[in-house]
Amino acid sequence: MRRSLVTGGAGFIGSNFVRHLLSMTDDSVTVLDKLTYAGSQATVEGLDPRRVSVVRGDIADASLVDGLVRDHDLVVHFAAETHNDNSLRDPAPFVHSNIVGTYTLLEAVRKHETRFHHVSTDEVYGDLELDDPSRFTEKTAYNPSSPYSSTKAASDLLVRAWVRSFGVRATISNCSNNYGPYQHVEKFIPRQITNVLSGRRPRLYGDGQNVRDWIHTEDHSSAVLAVIERGEIGETYLVGADGERSNIDIVRILLRLLDQPETSFDLVRDRVGHDRRYAIDSSRIQSELGWTPRFVDLEAGLADTVEWYKDHAAWWRPGKASVEALYGAAGQ
Ligand code: NAD
Ligand code: TYD
Repeated sequence: MRRSLVTGGAGFIGSNFVRHLLSMTDDSVTVLDKLTYAGSQATVEGLDPRRVSVVRGDIADASLVDGLVRDHDLVVHFAAETHNDNSLRDPAPFVHSNIVGTYTLLEAVRKHETRFHHVSTDEVYGDLELDDPSRFTEKTAYNPSSPYSSTKAASDLLVRAWVRSFGVRATISNCSNNYGPYQHVEKFIPRQITNVLSGRRPRLYGDGQNVRDWIHTEDHSSAVLAVIERGEIGETYLVGADGERSNIDIVRILLRLLDQPETSFDLVRDRVGHDRRYAIDSSRIQSELGWTPRFVDLEAGLADTVEWYKDHAAWWRPGKASVEALYGAAGQ
């Protein structure tokens, strides 16, 4: 039985991945999570205690990490500070968790010769113009825009260097924007859904025309597992599901699903340095590893996500007011 250590397993994508791993394998799982504002016990509640344990701690704590890595066969690394808007307010935790934290994990997997998978983002590639026909591939040059994306880019480069210099057995995946259950209410889609459920209007940055390439988190999980099981050591795989939509289109869909007029939103102050468009070409993982996304009907996926937030108000409501207070102070 494989022993898997999942960092950030009490956050959005990490917790969905833990559920996926439990259903697809016999692994026993240890979640290592600092339980920052973005992670919580409530997110991992209900997981089989015979197969899952949760350790609260920091991935930059070298002695804690060393002891945990020593006792595991695989490390799947999701833990990070992840919100662009927060990174513009205060980059320090992003440097700590994303760069120092990844470095700390790499030193431990180097020492114990442990298989490592690093989860990253397509935002390391910067952005594309709206009318640019190209999409990101594994060969696109790194060109990150924000403190968030630049610290993720730095972490990817550390992983590549530890593979080449020290022979660490690592793979990397760079995925597009995820949506689905357990996503924090600070992020675009949950913010708009929970705004409407709280009697507020959705808030669109700038002109609302920025484009993101949406993928259901369940498809991200199956892609990460495919790379762990069939990926080539030292290689990078881009993960996406051809889900390009403008932000304004997403808001209109959500308003329709929530029985609101499609014009019932506000345009608010734009994000500084706001990336215009992301788009992923996922041919490599599809052709080389045989992975395909299953949740390709975005409207159906959003309908399920709206239902999830309606049914899980107890999970999201405690954090909602403080998030909106921060946005309000920023004119957003
Ligand atoms: P999230 O913010 O929901 O969760 C992050 C988790 O990491 C939280 O549980 C938090 O407590 C934990 N954490 C943060 N700093 C830590 C530290 N120093 N030590 C231990 N735990 C720490 O993030 P998410 O959206 O689930 O993203 C997970 C990973 O996937 C990140 O690496 C992110 O860059 C990547 N990613 C996210 C997206 C997306 O659309 N959200 C897309 C592609 C890649
Ligand atoms: P976000 O979920 O923060 O993800 P990322 O910045 O990693 O892409 O934002 C997704 C898009 O939605 C991005 O173009 C910013 C925009 N956005 C809004 O228009 N309004 C909002 O309230 C938020 C949070 C984001």
